[in-house]
Amino acid sequence: MKSNIRNIYSDPAVYDAAHWWKTNDIEFVCDLISKYGDPVLELGAGTGRLAKPIMEKGLSHHGLDTSVEYVAWAKNKLKAFANLGTIDIGDMRNIKLDQTFQTCFIGFNSIFHLMTNDDIESCFNSVYDHLADGGHFFFDMFLPDPSFLHRENIQHHVLDFDHPEGGKCTIKETNDYDEVTQVNAITWYFYRENRAEPDMYNFDMHMIYPDTIFRLLSETGFTIKHVWGDYDKSAMDEDGRLQFYVCQKL
Ligand SMILES: C[S@@+](CC[C@H](N)C(=O)[O-])C[C@H]1O[C@@H](n2cnc3c(N)ncnc32)[C@H](O)[C@@H]1O
Repeated sequence: MKSNIRNIYSDPAVYDAAHWWKTNDIEFVCDLISKYGDPVLELGAGTGRLAKPIMEKGLSHHGLDTSVEYVAWAKNKLKAFANLGTIDIGDMRNIKLDQTFQTCFIGFNSIFHLMTNDDIESCFNSVYDHLADGGHFFFDMFLPDPSFLHRENIQHHVLDFDHPEGGKCTIKETNDYDEVTQVNAITWYFYRENRAEPDMYNFDMHMIYPDTIFRLLSETGFTIKHVWGDYDKSAMDEDGRLQFYVCQKL
């Protein structure tokens, strides 16, 4: 059974279709980049979900992502904006670009794919080195919720969407959280119309807590300017949904 499970980041058409609902960060991210300035570097840029509206505003954008399939898909999606940038293969733990940026960001939980604190530290150092003096770095992720991590071991409903190959699709999930490594191993089951067996995808997320972020940002040398608990800029609190950090290289 395990061998039938695919990596979630191997199928960009499915990702885009399944994330039809994720729009609440777009204007917020575009506004921050307009305020802090381009060129902007996006890490874990994926299928270009955020890159496209950023470029539509005429902002210069360079994205990096480790998924070969996603980068190929994003390049095609963004070809009309080739004068403003593109998305290339690159690892956020070890950025190798001959350029500095006014703004760098990591959107929509992508930082959870840094599996250890050493990985986060490498990423923060790499971002620092690629920011212009005075440049800004922001990122967001959900606030880990113990009641989610320790749920009953059954398949839980996630969402419904129209599958790009046709028909309705319902995603259910199971998760297995390791308290020692703080890694949450998630399996998504895609139940498609008129199919007996679900398509299965997996992905791991390293649950990262605010104390770790504060420590690693300060060790890197960043000045933290804002910590928000949602896209409405409300303060982060332990019952909140989101962790959103804005910091600056001073
Ligand atoms: C949750 S998706 C978010 C994609 C996109 N930022 C968005 O908002 O739709 C996470 C992305 O991070 C990428 N990723 C995972 N590890 C990475 C790494 N070490 N460096 C760069 N990208 C990575 C995955 O390939 C995937 O595209």
